Amino acid sequence: MVGASGSGKSTWAEARYRRDEIVSSDALRGVVGSGPHDLDASADAFDLLERIVAARLGRGLTTVVDTLGLDQERRTAWLAAARAAGLPALVVHLDTPSDLCRERNRGRDRPVPAQVLAGQLRKVAAVATALDLEGWDAVHRLSEPGRAAEGAPQRPV
Ligand code: CTP
Ligand code: MG
Repeated sequence: MVGASGSGKSTWAEARYRRDEIVSSDALRGVVGSGPHDLDASADAFDLLERIVAARLGRGLTTVVDTLGLDQERRTAWLAAARAAGLPALVVHLDTPSDLCRERNRGRDRPVPAQVLAGQLRKVAAVATALDLEGWDAVHRLSEPGRAAEGAPQRPV
């Protein structure tokens, strides 16, 4: 998945996939750190995330990577790993309107700082072309939050 904080990534995934199919950097920060927002735990959380993704793909298991998805190096490595495992590789790009992301962010217990969210929103707006060129089997682009729930097949893989 690719999308800013508050774009609805986790909601989208949780409505469609079993808990164990979703590998979430926030959840793993909670496992190895003081909570999902413990940024000091990011390196350990991503280390675990990569190991879990590799282990699941190695068994041919459906794997949903719930991160911002904005790091091209990581993203394309997951694409290559899926290919190596003989699995289809898809992107769900939550191109949710910026105002809605900001509004949801403001309503959260632990909002992302406004400047951090602004940076994410800029990157998400600029990432579409890269996603289209990276060679994914499909890029599901969900731009209307009301339709996000119905905008893609129930289990696209
Ligand atoms: N939300 C909503 N309707 C949607 C999607 C999300 O009301 N169609 C709400 C969720 O209930 C949540 C907030 O918006 O309170 C953020 O959604 P979430 O799925 O958690 O966003 P993420 O993209 O996962 O944000 P983060 O990167 O911070 O994990
Ligand atoms: Mg989330």
